[in-house]
Amino acid sequence: MEVASRKPLAAGDPGFSSAPLLDSAGEFLVSLRSDMLLDPSVVFLNHGSFGACPAPVFAAYQQWQRELERQPVEFLGRRSEALLDGARETLAGYLGADPECVAFVPNATEGINVVARSLRLQPGDEVVGTDLEYGACDRTWDHLCERFGARYRRAHIPLPASDPDAIVEAIWAEVTPRTRAIFLSHITSATALTWPVAAACQRARAEGIFTVVDGAHAPGQLPLDLDDIGADAYSANLHKWVSAPKGSGFLHVRREHHAWMESPVVSWGWVEESPHFRPGSPFVSRNQWQGTRDPAAYLSVPAAIAYQQERDWPVVRAAGHELAKEARRRIVTRFGQEPLSPEPEPDGYPWFIQMVACPLPPLDPLVLKRRLYDEHRVEAPITVWNDRPFIRLSFQGYNTRGDLEAALAALDALVPELTE
Ligand SMILES: Cc1ncc(COP(=O)(O)O)c(C=O)c1O
Repeated sequence: MEVASRKPLAAGDPGFSSAPLLDSAGEFLVSLRSDMLLDPSVVFLNHGSFGACPAPVFAAYQQWQRELERQPVEFLGRRSEALLDGARETLAGYLGADPECVAFVPNATEGINVVARSLRLQPGDEVVGTDLEYGACDRTWDHLCERFGARYRRAHIPLPASDPDAIVEAIWAEVTPRTRAIFLSHITSATALTWPVAAACQRARAEGIFTVVDGAHAPGQLPLDLDDIGADAYSANLHKWVSAPKGSGFLHVRREHHAWMESPVVSWGWVEESPHFRPGSPFVSRNQWQGTRDPAAYLSVPAAIAYQQERDWPVVRAAGHELAKEARRRIVTRFGQEPLSPEPEPDGYPWFIQMVACPLPPLDPLVLKRRLYDEHRVEAPITVWNDRPFIRLSFQGYNTRGDLEAALAALDALVPELTE
């Protein structure tokens, strides 16, 4: 199996750390900033939207692209399938999954679309989501339900959340004998809250309902064991919290559904005699070769996984989580708001991890977002749910407490003015 290679980090390199989280002054020691290609003039607190690829992983990505262009026929025609199989096996190991159940897709939206379209909804069918699903995926279900005479029902999740079981109950308030599928985020977009997907998938399975999980933000933030979660289909991004190059995601589908799972494009993977046919899995066959494409982002996924392993990722993740908790405490106190969930306890339910949504008083979210960036160089999304604005802050290994202080100073300058 060939996998992406990169220069291993030596202990003592910037960012290599199995050191304690805090120094004697209470500052975080972990910062991977020197690994990043990010503009140093920007306080970048929005890893959640598109991720940010560290330089060593990006170098592996460009190396694959150069190799491809050196001999395109050799690379795409003769080697790419075996290379992709190798990268997929590494990814499957990381996800606790069978490699024949995992296919690379460019992003979570595409993975969700593959499943939603393959379901071939019928008139009268119902799909249940929540009122906190990601807009593009909501539209996928809206569109397909409208087109095929089905109905998309959004369960209202009361916030602040306090009990994961109550979230499952709120979802089931929309389940009827017509429910064909349940669609849930693992970590929600606007509120960054974690949904209890394993419990929901287990209950749905017992009732014969198909489950589709949108895990866009989960890999890298949560250690995953997809077999344990038990979703019928799970799609996620690797370019967000695994820090792989843009255009790398995956779709995992349980084996019993492979025969009816389609692909966005019908191509050589559908033809048994073709070198692009993967004999072990019709699902992988159909989705791995989608015509001539640049597979470099997929092939760099092992380098991204290795990067995290070399950087002692549990420590990096814990440092980001501490900053996220501190950010929320300070913001809700400052602006007199109620947090959206309890604070996560060590080894307790992971309400949020490295990304946190902090409620703000009523204000114009677009103006705040623009002025945060234009006047303070703070890149952070202002999300809105049920007319309530939140600042969603992401703390990846390259963020420091200095970034948090800069965001707080900017909010102090802007929020009073915008709420007058
Ligand atoms: C919960 C959720 N699902 C899906 C997506 C879509 O990701 P992509 O555009 O990479 O498909 C996002 C993007 O932020 C998201 O937050």
